[in-house]
Amino acid sequence: MTDVISIRDLDKPTIEKLLESAEKMEKNLFTSHEMFRGKVAATLFFEASTRTHLSFQTAAQRLGMSIVPYYHNASSSTKGESLRDTIRIVDGYADILVMRHPQEGAARYAAEQAQHPVVNAGDGGNQHPTQTLIDLYAILKAKGKIKGLNVQLVGDLKHARAMRSLLYALGMFGATVKLAAPVGLEMDPAIIKETEEKFGAKITQTADLDLSGSDVVYVCRIQKERFADPYAASKLAASFRISPELLKNAKSDMILMHPLPKIDEIPPEVDNSPHAYYFQQARCGVPVRMAVLAYCMKGKVD
Ligand code: NCD
Repeated sequence: MTDVISIRDLDKPTIEKLLESAEKMEKNLFTSHEMFRGKVAATLFFEASTRTHLSFQTAAQRLGMSIVPYYHNASSSTKGESLRDTIRIVDGYADILVMRHPQEGAARYAAEQAQHPVVNAGDGGNQHPTQTLIDLYAILKAKGKIKGLNVQLVGDLKHARAMRSLLYALGMFGATVKLAAPVGLEMDPAIIKETEEKFGAKITQTADLDLSGSDVVYVCRIQKERFADPYAASKLAASFRISPELLKNAKSDMILMHPLPKIDEIPPEVDNSPHAYYFQQARCGVPVRMAVLAYCMKGKVD
């Protein structure tokens, strides 16, 4: 059994094997899996979620597991129960715990308390490792490679956990990365430095939106729930938009990705553009999370 808490927990060969395993899962998606029949997965979401929660639940069920969902607003956490106690209890009920929590480090803490494997489905602005595996899988599906691609990350790079995990993995896989963020929402310099030093990654930064030359443009929303000042968040929300005009400068085969939910940063008319790839990207969630759950339950990738 193993936990997946940070993208740093996974080395390149393990990620490659996980992506291959996801491909096999995708091929067999609609045939029944007996792999984990009788096992129980608990999905503990202390923070809002649509795709991550539902795709983890779907993935677990396609592997034959049943689900124990946790409803945060109706739980004893609202009475003041500690995370430590909640984890101890659920660990006694289920065989694997999938957790999203607003606090950075909460998933690591939960993994220290639990005997069963813990999968981080997002801990505050820190990490979102399974989203990154989905992103790598989706890029490989569209482009056949990651090494040497020009990838641009756009939006609130300061608060988006999906971007932090992704930058590290793109560095690991040899992409050239441009970071485009509104002033004040730049990526944590420590993560840029770590990715450059560990992988020799080529990373540049800008405050201007220019899509030309990018093979992949990966956008995220302004993470307003992580702002001390909601007014500042709403002012910034309008500033970084992928308009149809902006797309005219893009390479013809550029793919536009987004972890979703998208709010103002991609207007609905862009959904019909040949660049829009985010709905296909989201569909990769189930097979990739099937591969992750199987890896955590077995402690290895088959
Ligand atoms: C992301 C998240 O929760 O970090 N969503 C997701 O998991 N697909 C991105 C976001 O909320 O902006």
